[in-house]
Amino acid sequence: MVNIDRKVALTGIFLKNDETISMLLTLMARVWILPSRRLISIIGTGKLGSAVALQVASRELGDLRLVDIIQGLPQGEALDLGQMAAEQGADVDIVGSNDYKDIAGSDLVVVVGGLGRKPGMTRLDLQEKNEDIIRGICDKIVEYAPKTLILMVTNPLDVMTYLAWKVTGFEPSRVFGQSGMLDTMRFKYFIAKALRVSTSSIQAVVIGEHGDSMVPLPRFSTVNGVPITELLSPAQVAEAIERTRKIAAEVIALKGATIYAPAHGITRMVESVIKDKKMVLCLTAHLNGEYGVKDIYLDVPAVLGARGVERVIELKLNDEERAAFLKSVEVVKTAVGHLKTVKVS
Ligand SMILES: NC(=O)c1ccc[n+]([C@@H]2O[C@H](COP(=O)([O-])OP(=O)(O)OC[C@H]3O[C@@H](n4cnc5c(N)ncnc54)[C@H](O)[C@@H]3O)[C@@H](O)[C@H]2O)c1
Repeated sequence: MVNIDRKVALTGIFLKNDETISMLLTLMARVWILPSRRLISIIGTGKLGSAVALQVASRELGDLRLVDIIQGLPQGEALDLGQMAAEQGADVDIVGSNDYKDIAGSDLVVVVGGLGRKPGMTRLDLQEKNEDIIRGICDKIVEYAPKTLILMVTNPLDVMTYLAWKVTGFEPSRVFGQSGMLDTMRFKYFIAKALRVSTSSIQAVVIGEHGDSMVPLPRFSTVNGVPITELLSPAQVAEAIERTRKIAAEVIALKGATIYAPAHGITRMVESVIKDKKMVLCLTAHLNGEYGVKDIYLDVPAVLGARGVERVIELKLNDEERAAFLKSVEVVKTAVGHLKTVKVS
């Protein structure tokens, strides 16, 4: 009886005070009903950046800030996407801007700004021009979003991710890149074609440079647990590997850029961070002794969650695989050595 009386008395006090009630309702809404949405910024809203924005908005992964140097482009993308989201019922706030201050408060910044490959160019050809662009973007990230994670996409990917880490001075786990998702998707695609089975039954692994020296790993690529080396002839495996290495150049020669496949890979990584899914993905991670190498960013399997790269998974490579991986290490170390403004240890 006593307890019930006390509750009634307390309710009476609150009900007399409109301000208290409204304050309590707002607090309840914030804490229990409307968890605050995460903020994702995309720097560079060209062909790939806009495709990423489309997928991230459709999946309602968070509010979006789109930034580009071209006047009107990110604003136009934001309006277009906002109207799409309105019909989808996706609750995302999308703002386009030419001002980096709008990335303030970002949980994740996806860097897709810079030049892409023209037919016949290698990713390394891009390095010199993109170095200046990425330095400038990273300075702005440090200024306006010093607590964010960074997902690098601009090519040459391994070198630009290393550069972003050096320029920002962020912990290595907060800076990572997208390459492995795309390369494994491509390997999966060619394995599925050779075997005539569903891609959903295939797990593929590709490590190393996002470039010609990448290392697709047939022993670790399986169809429901069975290595593809037991299902395909050596010639078929070799063909799947060769096509995986060359397919980007083929697509660029045909349509000028690769768009939907990388956009999907990036979106899966955004999802793993935003939802703290801790997906095990091939991604460009900092290596500090793993695989016997140090002070380099390369594609390896790793756990990706809300705090970035949580751990690198070390595969037990055989001699042939290790030699191919070390060749990739050499290619990337040489390219990093050509950076104009970064001291390599
Ligand atoms: N990692 C991967 O898997 C992968 C896959 C495909 C493409 N890429 C790379 O992504 C990058 C973008 O490719 P794209 O096809 O979208 O090129 P794009 O030319 O269509 O778009 C690039 C955009 O970046 C903008 N930009 C340039 N400097 C900027 C700056 N300082 N700040 C903000 N924006 C800036 C440009 O105005 C342009 O809109 C290229 O380097 C390309 O090689 C990487």
